[in-house]
Amino acid sequence: MALWGGRFSTGPAESVFALSRSVHFDYRLAPYDLRSSLAHLSVLEGSGLIDKGDSAKIAKVLRDLMTEVSNGDFGIHEDDEDIHSALERAMMERIGDTGGKLRAGRSRNDQVATDLRLFSIDHMLHIAGLVTELQSALLAKAKEYADAPAPGFTHLQHAQPILFGHELAKHVHAFARDLDRINDWLARTSYSPLGAGALAGSSLPLKPEETAKLLGFNGAIGNSIDAVSDRDFVAEALFILAMVGVHLSRIGEEWCIMATSEFAWAKLDDAFSTGSSIMPQKKNPDMAELARGKAGRLVGNLTAVLTMLKGLPFAYNRDLQEDKEPLFDSIDTLNLVLPAVTGMVATTAFNRKKMAEAAPAGFSLATEIADYLVRKNVPFAQAHEAAGKCVAIAESQNKELHQLTETEFQSVHKDLDVAVRTVLTVDGALSGRTTHGGTAPSELKKQFAELENQIKSAQSIISNEAKSFSEMMGG
Ligand code: ARG
Repeated sequence: MALWGGRFSTGPAESVFALSRSVHFDYRLAPYDLRSSLAHLSVLEGSGLIDKGDSAKIAKVLRDLMTEVSNGDFGIHEDDEDIHSALERAMMERIGDTGGKLRAGRSRNDQVATDLRLFSIDHMLHIAGLVTELQSALLAKAKEYADAPAPGFTHLQHAQPILFGHELAKHVHAFARDLDRINDWLARTSYSPLGAGALAGSSLPLKPEETAKLLGFNGAIGNSIDAVSDRDFVAEALFILAMVGVHLSRIGEEWCIMATSEFAWAKLDDAFSTGSSIMPQKKNPDMAELARGKAGRLVGNLTAVLTMLKGLPFAYNRDLQEDKEPLFDSIDTLNLVLPAVTGMVATTAFNRKKMAEAAPAGFSLATEIADYLVRKNVPFAQAHEAAGKCVAIAESQNKELHQLTETEFQSVHKDLDVAVRTVLTVDGALSGRTTHGGTAPSELKKQFAELENQIKSAQSIISNEAKSFSEMMGG
């Protein structure tokens, strides 16, 4: 059923209808559309624009439709254009012309903008919850390997020894920033477009502030043209989701490398790896690869929406219908990837022995020599040079730094004595790095405690928000 037949002599051409149609994807807005219709109805009734009897009839249909939608019983018709027209069609089928009263003062322009905000808030909260589950899995793993030395890398080359728990915990920080982003996105997104009508507001006595409150928003948007045209909240949500995806892709890459037989640091659980159809011996890190690969579509979805918005005239243009599929896709993608990565992280076993053996390899303790000289007041540039010479000697003689002789140390720098050997151990290098956020065990302990508190507080904020959102949806 079209919502706009009056001034036309024919219906749309088949190709026009096919291109305009969005109900096959925007049906997902149904619960939010019905909920915002209830809010709109209550304002129409409050202003005396719909009498109590009609209002009760309409409200009953809206509630019936809510139940049907949530049971999967609501049927879309061939000629439904979008979810807004499908729901209005169903309303008219049930109570005839009375159903048409609900459209007073409302356009699909403010309607779809409202629905999509509600949809986004609901789903971003869900994603936020999944992110905290992944954080918990990462933090638990980090604690399990809190005392395991491993080489840290720069340029994928051994750099300095670190504790493996420190290595794992870094990911928790990245996701904490994503949660922060969701939190402030939420504060910015929580304004209602309803009441803006097509673009100019309404001559009817509507109360946008009141509908906003009924829908759990913090307020109504201050400009009706902006209200129907703004999709910043979609673009921002897509950026946050892409950023989460990029963080997941870096975990994915790390896991792929650690699971190679050359590294053999990570042993994936059978339930979180896959086999090959031709090579029976294979155990592949497909979850890690998909975590890496899915980042592409998440970035693509953000690009699609920003490009669609660029240069778009005001107010509503049909281009805006292109906001939904990218958003739905990014949300669906993360709903799949996050739990799989959480499971993969939680079930991976790491080879402490291999990591510990690798920790001092590649002269990763060379910085200790430089720092030792700095503590003896040697300027760092000179100290760096001296440490480099030690590496060159050790390399040419095929030995480790602590195996250099006293004469060799002395030949490099007069302040370099054999006592330097005391810092040329992995334990020494680790426990010395006590700066805030450093890899020393004492710092790691503090870091874990802070992360644990952060995760707990994020979880409580998210569950409170989700609770009030679902109470609001229950109407
Ligand atoms: N399906 C449309 C969308 O998603 C709803 C708004 C249609 N408004 C209009 N003026 N044609 O954008």
